[in-house]
This record gives sequence, structure tokens and C-alpha cells, in this order.
Amino acid sequence: MSIDRDWYSGFRIFRLQILKNMAGKSPELTELQRTSGSWAKVVDEIVRLEKKIFPKHESLARSFDDELKKKNSGLLYLEIDGDIAGYVMYSSASSLCAVITKLAVKEKYRRQGHGEALMKAAIAKCRSKRINRISLHVDPLRSSAVDLYKKLGFQTDTLVRAYYSSDRDACRMFIDFDNE
Ligand SMILES: CC(C)(COP(=O)(O)OP(=O)(O)OC[C@H]1O[C@@H](n2cnc3c(N)ncnc32)[C@H](O)[C@@H]1OP(=O)(O)O)[C@@H](O)C(=O)NCCC(=O)NCCS
Repeated sequence: MSIDRDWYSGFRIFRLQILKNMAGKSPELTELQRTSGSWAKVVDEIVRLEKKIFPKHESLARSFDDELKKKNSGLLYLEIDGDIAGYVMYSSASSLCAVITKLAVKEKYRRQGHGEALMKAAIAKCRSKRINRISLHVDPLRSSAVDLYKKLGFQTDTLVRAYYSSDRDACRMFIDFDNE
């Protein structure tokens, strides 16, 4: 079986597990495809969330479409009853290393495991490409996100001064995989 088919069968099982876990709701994890008829609607909604959740210096709202057009960029989003509950964006700059560029869950859906599910799906997607390292930047004041990344095995690499703006630093975190 090819790596891609492996990933898709894992993804289907993962989708079924989420469906089973949510009493009465029907969460659905989808990879955004440029060819999809819902591209514009999904991007619009995510840009709206992006503006609401992140301050300007952290927001990709103005460049979301461009970010997604980049080769090797991907976005997974979670829908609950037609409402976009969260999203994770990643890109693989090289065949060895991928970056999680964005993760967010709408406020009313937080603390229900969706952030973790999105991250695990993005990690699985990157691993299916035999990536050795996934890294990300996070504002150390975002303790929920830092705790989530640590829970998933990310380690702190270094503090990058003035990463977001002159007075906002970032922690660089990473997780390594052995693809032998
Ligand atoms: C960070 C974020 C995506 C987490 O999403 P979530 O769906 O609430 O997270 P989950 O329910 O999947 O939680 C998974 C783990 O994350 C950590 N976590 C999440 N929320 C937390 C909180 N309020 N306090 C402490 N730890 C928290 C915990 O380790 C948790 O594991 P546990 O339930 O076993 O304790 C969400 O809070 C968010 O969108 N925040 C604003 C945007 C943001 O900070 N994005 C990251 C930018 S780098």
C-alpha cells in the first residue's frame, strides 16, 4: 500500500472515531482542496475566525489565501454541524522538515479534544510524507497551546526574541521522528 493510501485509511478511521465520540454532533475533519466547491466559503470563514482569535501581529488573515497557495501548504479543518470549529495549517518546506503555521479552535468548542485531534491529524499528514521534524512557533503566553504541544511530545528549542512584534517573543518547539 502506498504511503498516501496508508494516510487516507488512517484518516478515515480517525474521522469515524471523532464521529463516535460526539454525542448528537457530527464533527468532520476535512483537508481543504483548491478544487473543492467550498474553498471560498471555508477560507472566508477561517479568515473571520483568524481575525477574531489572533491579534494583528499573529494573524494570517490578510495573507491566508496566499499562504495556502504555497506549494506544500495544507489546511485541515473541523466542522461541527456545518460550523467551522477549528483548523490547523502546515507546510513542508523541505522533504525533511514541516512547520505547523497555525492552529486554532473556536472558543465555544475548546477543551473538548478538538485542538489535539487537529494537531494529531496534521502530524499524521506530515509523517505520511516521511518528514523527520515538525517545528512551530508559539507565543509563550499562550499556555493552552504550549501545554497541548508538550502533551504531544514537542520540546522547546529556543526563545526567538521579537518574533511576532518588537515586544512579542516566540518559543520555537519541535518534535523529531525516526523514519527508519
Ligand atoms: C490552543 C487551542 C488550539 C487548544 O484547543 P482545544 O481544543 O481547547 O484543546 P484540547 O481540548 O484538544 O486540549 C488538549 C490539551 O491541550 C492543553 N490545553 C488545552 N486547553 C488548555 C487550557 N485552557 N489550560 C491548560 N491546558 C490546556 C491540555 O494539555 C489538553 O490536554 P488535557 O485535556 O489532557 O488536559 C485553543 O485553546 C485555541 O485555539 N487557542 C487560541 C489560539 C492559539 O493559541 N493557537 C495556538 C497558536 S500557536
